[in-house]
Amino acid sequence: MFAGKAANLIEEGYQKFKSKTYQLIRQDSSIVVLPLSLLDELSSLPAKVASPNSALEHDLLGNYTGINLILESRLHHSIIQRKLTPRLEVITPYLEEELASAFKDLFLECDDSDWHEFQPYQIFGRISARLTARALVGRDLCRDPTWNNISFNYTENLFRTIVILRLFPPWLHPFLFYILPSYWNGRSYLKSAKALLGPKLHNFITRNDNGSWTTEDSEGESNVLAWLAELAKGTDRNPDTLAHVEVLLALASVHTTLLRMVNVLYDLTANPQYLEELQLEIQRETESKEGWNNNSYSKLHKLDSVLRESQRMSPPTTLGLKRLFKQSHTFSNGLYVSEGTYVCLPTFAIENDPEHTENPESFDGLRAYRQKQQESLSGGVTASGAGKHDFSSVGRTVLSFGYGKASCPGRFFAALIIKMLFVKLLTEYEFSFLPNTKRPKNLMLHEFLFCWPWQKMLFRKKVGGCPF
Ligand code: HEM
Repeated sequence: MFAGKAANLIEEGYQKFKSKTYQLIRQDSSIVVLPLSLLDELSSLPAKVASPNSALEHDLLGNYTGINLILESRLHHSIIQRKLTPRLEVITPYLEEELASAFKDLFLECDDSDWHEFQPYQIFGRISARLTARALVGRDLCRDPTWNNISFNYTENLFRTIVILRLFPPWLHPFLFYILPSYWNGRSYLKSAKALLGPKLHNFITRNDNGSWTTEDSEGESNVLAWLAELAKGTDRNPDTLAHVEVLLALASVHTTLLRMVNVLYDLTANPQYLEELQLEIQRETESKEGWNNNSYSKLHKLDSVLRESQRMSPPTTLGLKRLFKQSHTFSNGLYVSEGTYVCLPTFAIENDPEHTENPESFDGLRAYRQKQQESLSGGVTASGAGKHDFSSVGRTVLSFGYGKASCPGRFFAALIIKMLFVKLLTEYEFSFLPNTKRPKNLMLHEFLFCWPWQKMLFRKKVGGCPF
């Protein structure tokens, strides 16, 4: 069954047909897997020919999960690209404040130096939801339990719905969804989001329309909710649609960053040889002439490299570059794809192919850091060291954030909040797996990778100061 052995089937297919096109049969449909040689051509096709959002809508069963809004509106993409990403430095202090406050509320407060049990997925899930909320809904609402509940549980329920429905052929879906509690929960979270965010959005829109309000780069209004009310036009410009966009953004952000947070913790605990270097890197930035500042995160090149290595070995999905063909198309190599075909690339297999990554089975936390250093010596990167080996950079064989114009617009925000969490963890805590246990394995279902939500680990507080 595809659901249970998707990762193996995709890997086998890649080994057998590396430079060819092949088909995989899922329970609910069949998908066409393209070779890496078609990456550039595929990613530059216009959405009216090969649509990324229609493929996402298809995968996440839009009619049953509320994702179908992305077929009508592109606001969720443009608001991140045009508003959030350019303002990351402005909101960095607010995010730091939120993280410190979330730690007080959620992380077990302990004054002793004893080891304590905790569940990383549960705690980091709440932290990811709080940090995302500070950017999405601003200070007034980001600690609201109703919003935090919606932003975490909408996604959990959506995945329950699709994992179950995709076990069955599409003709059964219209009968099955009725009996899934996760379907009804998802709807109810959407409704609550509209009720919670609607009045504030309505107020912003009305005041903006009569010329009495615009956003400023001030704390209260440096958030997606305010930017949406200012930017939305036409049919998007109504509180229900904008609240729906907010929920979709929480879906795109909370669990993807959570997965990375948990996996980086596992990877660093399993490879403690990196801890001292990472701590020294943070210390160097803290003691630098400028001191710790909004730009310090972009100088944590070793930590950045660890994030990238972790994502290579445990990405959220083994398939990427998913596109639904809206028109028939013939590629330059003669491959004909008919209208309605769903295509993708085996991104995990590509990135972990020894031809693209040396010793792919070993976790080499400073792999990208060394590549960056080498390139810097040969004059290939900017003075700040930013370049193609960053966690947030995409490349022909680094595809977990997509590739080309449709690649993830939220990856810079993701990099910032994951690093922020690890600056805090590395300077104030020590971690260990439970006695006689090793790094937990990733769970695989369909093409997705998950972490076991109830996994326990140990932490203890140590002497040392977080720079914020
Ligand atoms: C480590 C964390 C993340 C990973 C691995 C990830 C990965 C991805 C991938 C693979 C895509 C699809 C690209 C394609 O179609 O080729 C995507 C799209 C997207 N992501 Fe992310 N993402 C992450 C975090 C975020 C965050 C934090 C946000 C928001 C702040 C975000 C917002 C989006 C949006 C709006 C889209 C576009 C969806 C569309 O076009 O309909 N992502 N992401």
